[in-house]
Amino acid sequence: MEALHEAVRLLAQSQRVVVFTGAGVSAESGLATFRGAGGLWEGHRVEDVATPEAFARDPELVWRFYAMRRERAWQAQPNPAHLAIAEMDRLFAQLVVVTQNVDGLHQRAGSRHVLELHGSLWRIRCTRCQRERHDEQVPLASLPPRCGACSGLERPAVVWFGESLPTKVWEEAERACSNADLMLVVGTSGVVWPAAGLVELAAATGAWVVEVNPEPSALAHLARVQLQAKAGQALPALVRQLREA
Ligand code: OAD
Repeated sequence: MEALHEAVRLLAQSQRVVVFTGAGVSAESGLATFRGAGGLWEGHRVEDVATPEAFARDPELVWRFYAMRRERAWQAQPNPAHLAIAEMDRLFAQLVVVTQNVDGLHQRAGSRHVLELHGSLWRIRCTRCQRERHDEQVPLASLPPRCGACSGLERPAVVWFGESLPTKVWEEAERACSNADLMLVVGTSGVVWPAAGLVELAAATGAWVVEVNPEPSALAHLARVQLQAKAGQALPALVRQLREA
């Protein structure tokens, strides 16, 4: 496949690589993407249960949604795409995974440097005292959970629509993207900002962009190479050929 060879050729010349991922990278682990079929939950658009307003109105409903996502993510396993990305750690001087996903599957696959732009299902934050804690209990004992320190209402430490991205994570991501030789954009529709802006930043500062997606995304015009394939097929093939290159 011509595009695959071109992607391997560019990767073989790169030292600083950013892998930018979205829900599509976890699709083959059985986790639904946002905008595809299955993007509805209990009759709500997924985005409608991921807002501060929704949480203020009905914290229990929002928590049920996140409890379900924790349960599904907990049952899911990293797929060959996550594993290939983890293997890339060994192939480049610097490899940073910048993910919009909250499922933790990159870390479970073994990736060491993961920046979670939209937070994590596995962290919980108190809305009163802001204490944040790691929590992998599935299912949670009670919904909505309460803070052990101040009894305040806790929320998932994820970024909702209308909220800012965590500053430190964002700055680190910007740094990695503006220094990258190549950015691999995997399984994202590229329509959610500011995350999608990182691909523009990388391209504008000289990185080659390689997209892996069965459908061209909103960022496809920035891509030097497009691999129109599932991540679980394309990424292991890339890694295999890179090892042989
Ligand atoms: P989307 O659901 O918008 O897009 C998923 C993308 O994955 C689509 O472009 C699909 O074509 C592609 N895809 C599907 N199966 C794939 C596969 N096997 N291999 C590779 N690609 C595949 O998900 P995101 O772009 O991640 O934000 O959405 C971005 C943000 O919108 C999410 O982080 C979330 C959501 O609302 C927040 O919660 C803040």
